[in-house]
Amino acid sequence: MKPLKKFRSWFGAGSPLADIVPPEIEEYAAAHSVAESEVCRLIREETYRTQDCPQMVVGPLEAAFLKVMALAVRARRVLEIGAFTGYSALAMAEALPEDGTVLTCEIDPDSAAFARRYWDKSPHGRKIELRVGPALDTLSTLTGPFDVIFIDADKANYVSYYRRAKELLAPTGVILIDNVLWSGRVLNASAPDPSTQAIQELNRVVASDPDVTGALLTLRDGVFVIKPKI
Ligand SMILES: C[S@@+](CC[C@H](N)C(=O)[O-])C[C@H]1O[C@@H](n2cnc3c(N)ncnc32)[C@H](O)[C@@H]1O
Repeated sequence: MKPLKKFRSWFGAGSPLADIVPPEIEEYAAAHSVAESEVCRLIREETYRTQDCPQMVVGPLEAAFLKVMALAVRARRVLEIGAFTGYSALAMAEALPEDGTVLTCEIDPDSAAFARRYWDKSPHGRKIELRVGPALDTLSTLTGPFDVIFIDADKANYVSYYRRAKELLAPTGVILIDNVLWSGRVLNASAPDPSTQAIQELNRVVASDPDVTGALLTLRDGVFVIKPKI
């Protein structure tokens, strides 16, 4: 099955991610950040060659950010919701110590097979465990604590993912949520589509949550960085 049909409902009505940050600024920033690995580059290139929604991979700059976040909290256990072709999971695995682990959730078996094919080419691939199925089902079976939880799947479930992520997070950990600016569509107050509404709701929930300190960054398509209050 072509991914576009599956993803169109929540990744925008056929429109690819619109650049919020000018591409030349993003390229400059990426060129001055930790470089993507060879295997990540291969994943990105094949994803762009073969997938209908390749812009779903976070890309080199956001991957560098994920790595720095993992290092900043001295992560050993990472949880990812939304693996797609395995790019961000591998980038985070590369920033973990030898005994570190990334547990990632993916509903689409074809994407899971793509990801595993590339993880097998990397010495860091053995740190990654992928659970195929609806992420909320997988999350209900997990035991924390996780040091980094990266939410990057279906937008309709973002608030549910956030609430469960808080339960699974280490007190010293960090929650990262992708696409929270949704190509700027979050500014649409009059007739937002369901995915935009879900992201607007998530942003309201986080901003008014007394348990956390958050910063909504204008990195790529918007990344919420959320730390529990001490
Ligand atoms: C934006 S992509 C993830 C991109 C990936 N984090 C990266 O940067 O390389 C979102 C993924 O979430 C998956 N997904 C959508 N709904 C899901 C669900 N309910 N449970 C698990 N995965 C889901 C999609 O199949 C898709 O592969």
